[in-house]
Amino acid sequence: MKTLIFDTATESAIKTCAEIIKRGGLVGMPTETVYGLAANALNGKAVADIFKAKGRPQDNPLIVHISRIDELYPLVSEVPETALRLAKAFWPGPLTIILPKSDIIPDEVTAGLNTVAVRMPSHPVARRLIELCGVPLAAPSANSSGLPSPTTAEHVIRDMDGKIDAILNGGACDVGVESTVISLAGKKPRVLRPGGISPEELSSVIGEVEIDPAVLSQLRAEEVAASPGMKYKHYSPKAKVYIVQGDFENYKRYVEAAESENKFALCFDGEEKELTLPSLTYGHAKSPKEQAHRLFNALRELDDLGAGTVYARSPELSGMGLAVYNRLLRAAAFDIIEV
Ligand code: TXA
Ligand code: MG
Repeated sequence: MKTLIFDTATESAIKTCAEIIKRGGLVGMPTETVYGLAANALNGKAVADIFKAKGRPQDNPLIVHISRIDELYPLVSEVPETALRLAKAFWPGPLTIILPKSDIIPDEVTAGLNTVAVRMPSHPVARRLIELCGVPLAAPSANSSGLPSPTTAEHVIRDMDGKIDAILNGGACDVGVESTVISLAGKKPRVLRPGGISPEELSSVIGEVEIDPAVLSQLRAEEVAASPGMKYKHYSPKAKVYIVQGDFENYKRYVEAAESENKFALCFDGEEKELTLPSLTYGHAKSPKEQAHRLFNALRELDDLGAGTVYARSPELSGMGLAVYNRLLRAAAFDIIEV
């Protein structure tokens, strides 16, 4: 398949992409979190094609994207007060809300679950595309399954060229990690995936929120994942990644002595000057927002540099740091070294 690449997301480019989606095609679209791979969420066949293009496991459901709050109602069987409070506070923006689904959602979208994940992105190109399509858009991150999520159109081109109908370049993504996923389908609000909105921010609007255990630890083989995406190895470059937990002095001593091939440090800004091994930085130690913005690009760059083993500095676990740590943990396949 020849993939149409639109270097700038002009109104006419967005219109052409909307036509493609209305005909059942797939489009790589920018959002404020990461690039998405969009199709008409109400067309089961088009949604099935998303799974093929990504090589995505069939049991991992997709997020449905809307451009106005009133578009939520037909997609779900109820809209609790908590959902409205969250939507009013954080939409458009990096928050995905899980609710019991309505009958119009095809099984391909929810992987057979009786709930559906809905989000209203804030990126103007995504919003305009949804509006012109006139239907909600199912869109996972536009990476090949297992690779880091794409935060630029170039990343999408690398993973998806020849596999999808079009790619719309809307510049680099602002947030850099995916949306926060919160389920309102259980007894208590529960964060299934940390992301662009921190648990602290959610609590300030709806009170106590639970954090699903899968956010910070690996599920045992017999456990059922509340969010199927959390159980897979994810976001991985080809290199073996380790999270090294401890202060910088101990980190430095450990990584400099480590005997591994093509070792690289993935550290915070400024620290690279004090290390003797090759390194890449992913933001200031005190700025989890910046770390989120740069992490996925850094993971892809490590591949380009031919890294064999990567020793990553560990982010703090509060605010956006939780989302950064959650992604690094999966990139590292849960391998943590304490120093
Ligand atoms: O920021 C984002 O959320 C991006 C952009 C493109 O919007 N999308 C994204 O989609 O990250 P994806 O497919 O890569 O991740 C969706 C996550 C997965 O972990 C999936 O298991 C979970 O949401 N999910 C979707 N529907 C669900 C449901 N009904 N119940 C539980 N988890 C669900
Ligand atoms: Mg993804």
